Amino acid sequence: MKILVINGPNINMLGIRETNTYGALTLGEIERKIKEAASNDAIMSFFQSNNEGAIVDRIHRAYDDKIDYIIINAGAYTHTSIAIRDALLATKIPFIEVHLSNVYARESFRHQSYLSDIAEGVILGFKENSYILALAHILSRVKKN
Ligand code: DQA
Repeated sequence: MKILVINGPNINMLGIRETNTYGALTLGEIERKIKEAASNDAIMSFFQSNNEGAIVDRIHRAYDDKIDYIIINAGAYTHTSIAIRDALLATKIPFIEVHLSNVYARESFRHQSYLSDIAEGVILGFKENSYILALAHILSRVKKN
């Protein structure tokens, strides 16, 4: 089972950025926690970019790499990017949309997602645990099959 975790713009600023909203952990610390939670049950890879095209390219590469699942926090591109949506549709890799914050308790422009309706599921509002819960779901599916 190969799982790719993609993080979009400004997620590299975690630990510094609006810690009340996003938590105090850095992205590196969150990635370590995810890796620990995966243990030997999955091969994890991680990607972060502030550029929409680079995220699209990484999703295309995930197809070539035969990635089984994507966990994606597209950051602000969640609310704007038809290109990331189309890349996910093109590769048909099942994915889970995650957010650290509860976007529905925030500004109305964050209530729109170009990913939610094509995601297997959406997990949001649990800070770094959103990623861990997404991973737990994927691993439980694999164990059942
Ligand atoms: C976010 C929510 C987005 O609205 C915001 O632009 C982010 C982070 C989250 O994880 O809560 O960059 O995706």
